[in-house]
Amino acid sequence: MTDKYAQLVNQGLGRNVAKKLGLPQPAVLRRYEPGQPLITGPILVQGGTAGADSLAAELLSWDLDVRRHAVPREKLGAIILVLDEVAEPDDLGKPIFAAAASLRDLAPGGRVMTVSRPASDAPSPAAAAARQAVDGFLRSLAKELRGGATGNGILLAPGVNTTSPSALAAVQFFLSGRSAFVDGQFVTVSTTAGELSADPGKPLAGRVAVVTGAARGIGAAIARTLQRDGATLVLVDIPAAGDQLAAVANEVRGTALQLDISRGDAGQRILEHAAQRHGRLDIMVHNAGITRDKLLANMDEGPWNSVININIAAQLRINEALLASEHFRSSPRIVSVASTSGIAGNRGQTNYAASKGGVMGMVRATAPLLAAQGGSINAVAPGFIETEMTARIPFALREMGRRLNSLQQGGQPSDVAETIAFLASDAAGGINGEVLRVCGQNLVGA
Ligand code: NAI
Repeated sequence: MTDKYAQLVNQGLGRNVAKKLGLPQPAVLRRYEPGQPLITGPILVQGGTAGADSLAAELLSWDLDVRRHAVPREKLGAIILVLDEVAEPDDLGKPIFAAAASLRDLAPGGRVMTVSRPASDAPSPAAAAARQAVDGFLRSLAKELRGGATGNGILLAPGVNTTSPSALAAVQFFLSGRSAFVDGQFVTVSTTAGELSADPGKPLAGRVAVVTGAARGIGAAIARTLQRDGATLVLVDIPAAGDQLAAVANEVRGTALQLDISRGDAGQRILEHAAQRHGRLDIMVHNAGITRDKLLANMDEGPWNSVININIAAQLRINEALLASEHFRSSPRIVSVASTSGIAGNRGQTNYAASKGGVMGMVRATAPLLAAQGGSINAVAPGFIETEMTARIPFALREMGRRLNSLQQGGQPSDVAETIAFLASDAAGGINGEVLRVCGQNLVGA
């Protein structure tokens, strides 16, 4: 599951050859390590609104190096473009060109971020046009960035401002190495709920989390990341993966629950296990999933039913049990793993894409139920991630999957895990019903 090509073109001779031949040159991404600064280099906050002023003041209070005006030829860690008051398309040019002048000064692994408002709530057609224009602008700009730099956007719903807790949490996430493989994406902050952690190194301290499919791959990475961030873990996988599950559980000092999530009583079993050991359950991560790829013309009901049953029907049943339980009441968080296949579609994956589309539908419809309990439910949609699953893809197809995104490489399981840890945190409480892609900005499909 190593990307040998990326290693080669990041060394002396390989780098020169790739450059001469015009081949992809995937950068080494800036990934989070405990104790690492949020970002290296000054942050330029562009925009003349009160929202820009208060965001800049907040970032200063975090001891970050903040600029309100560009200093020529000074290397920048990040550029934040605050466009929270645009009322018509003509309002965009001035702040965008002010930021554009600094783009060449963005350091490798740098960040560009827009902070704006959703078009769906705009007071007029002109305001909706200006707001939606930010979407097209940011997604295109992200495709122009190089050196492992990324571009992402934060959308503030009515009543939410640039310093609301989850807006700040999203700024932190996008600035940090935790978002290394999230590129060209928007996240909506819908309410002022959420609370920034007093200890940024342990944002999940005191929380009890369940992760399904945790014996290997992305699930094992989620377990390690949640434990690093302070959570206590219950890890679930099928009995056949019992040894691997026990090894991961030992490593993260959690407990193992051998359980097929497609069993009708799976939700009850999970609740009983968590309640007996910890008195409650705070975070549910639905990661377990399977593929049974076949062209639809060759598919019978077997692979269709098993994929639908494990990837979506099981999650619906487990959520129903959790929502009815008194043990799932303390700022509950659910995060589901979807897939970009469920957004863009994938040949040979009608069953899988249907199930992952189902996950996204479920998340959006369940959001109000979680909000009523002071909680949230969100999904992450990974693109090409370096795992045993993708290592089995034939070479040529695998290379295409890997390179056809803005960062020209596959993501790591830890990239998906970091995004899940962010959505599971108290700070992200104002983010609900969202699907956040972890795909390096796939160039194909939606
Ligand atoms: P994997 O196949 O390596 O791991 C999945 C785990 O889920 C395994 O340990 C398996 O035993 C467990 N599992 C399967 N059925 C189960 C059941 N009925 N009950 C309990 N556990 C069960 O897969 P990987 O790559 O780690 O994927 C994890 C999630 O990420 C899946 O939902 C997958 O669809 C999704 N995903 C993966 C991508 C990738 O590039 N690897 C891309 C997009 C989404």
